[in-house]
Amino acid sequence: MTNNVPTSVQPLFEKFNSDQLELANRTVMAPMTRGFSPGGVPNEEVAAYYRRRAENHVGLIVTEGTGIGHPASVSGENIPLFYGEEALQGWENVVKEVHEAGGKIAPQLWHVGMTRNEGDLPNPEAAAVGPSGLNLDGEKINEPLTTEEVEDLVEAYAAAAGHAKRIGFDAIEIHGAHGYLIDQFFWEQTNKRSDRFGGDLVGRTQFAVEIVEACRREVGPDFPIIFRFSQWKMNDFQAKLVETSEELEQFLNPLVEAGVDIFHCSTRRFWEPEFEGSDLNLAGWTKKITGKPVISVGSIGLDGVFTSFTSTETSSLDGLMEKLKNGEFDLVAIGRSLLHDPAWVKKVEEGRSDELKPFDKEALGKLY
Ligand SMILES: Cc1cc2nc3c(=O)[nH]c(=O)nc-3n(C[C@H](O)[C@H](O)[C@H](O)COP(=O)(O)O)c2cc1C
Repeated sequence: MTNNVPTSVQPLFEKFNSDQLELANRTVMAPMTRGFSPGGVPNEEVAAYYRRRAENHVGLIVTEGTGIGHPASVSGENIPLFYGEEALQGWENVVKEVHEAGGKIAPQLWHVGMTRNEGDLPNPEAAAVGPSGLNLDGEKINEPLTTEEVEDLVEAYAAAAGHAKRIGFDAIEIHGAHGYLIDQFFWEQTNKRSDRFGGDLVGRTQFAVEIVEACRREVGPDFPIIFRFSQWKMNDFQAKLVETSEELEQFLNPLVEAGVDIFHCSTRRFWEPEFEGSDLNLAGWTKKITGKPVISVGSIGLDGVFTSFTSTETSSLDGLMEKLKNGEFDLVAIGRSLLHDPAWVKKVEEGRSDELKPFDKEALGKLY
């Protein structure tokens, strides 16, 4: 921690130490898809974009979602891939830049599943895949994945984890949130399978469990595995995987046993209690249930919520500091605030809050 951190924000600038990961402070850059990687290859501009966050004291950068080695893993030709020599070389350069600036970085491993539209680049001929061939609205689009195909996808995640370690990343984050492939297995509405990857809530965690186990096999016991999950889906902000803390426990226990080190609990407003009768948010409950370190997220420093994509005013950090100080969660991920201002963390650290700018939706189209 630098010496002159204002008392009011000190909890954010304490070191973080877990068995697997050490960070200079509690800030995490939330994963944010940018679409600035032509041909799926992160170029020098992308490397410089991440480097700017490292130079400005972000504790851990989680990259935008990047496609695992499967033809239908992403939608869009400028979404970065995490397979193939060229894309991996691009990522290796990103890691080098971030490390040179003193930062740490994890790739977010992603497969979009049934949210993919027919004909989407980079592989227009590849059909969307999902547990039961259903899109997020429950409409049948194509055939369910066979058990063997599901097992192949597990191995594609494992291969990506192996690449991440080999090219020097500090951790991986598995994207199990927001209604994409892994979440489509979790969610009753999109998973109607009768093999071991379906059934009750615990059965529906099996795909993620096998992914975590296979990634662990590839990266060994000491490499941090972060797992991101959410209740909300891209098409339904009110969706719920679990209604009670008991159900949350059933959901989380298999993932802990499989080897998750840190849970990243994605909510759109960090201050909202998850279940009645307690002020704890989703991250707070996850920490209480699992004893694992957790990342909270959602409208930090802003007074408007993610996905409205409108410009948004800044807001006070007092409520966040209170929760952090109380140990409700360990780390905080910052999305839009860091999208439009690479120096957001440093400004807060140096007491320059008056220099924090409202979120301007123009930032979505630029690499600030
Ligand atoms: C432009 C943009 C792209 C995003 N892409 C991803 C993504 O690739 N993976 C992911 O898990 N979340 C993604 N998110 C969600 C953010 O990680 C974060 O959870 C959300 O923006 C809430 O944080 P905020 O209120 O601080 O912006 C994205 C958000 C934005 C604004």
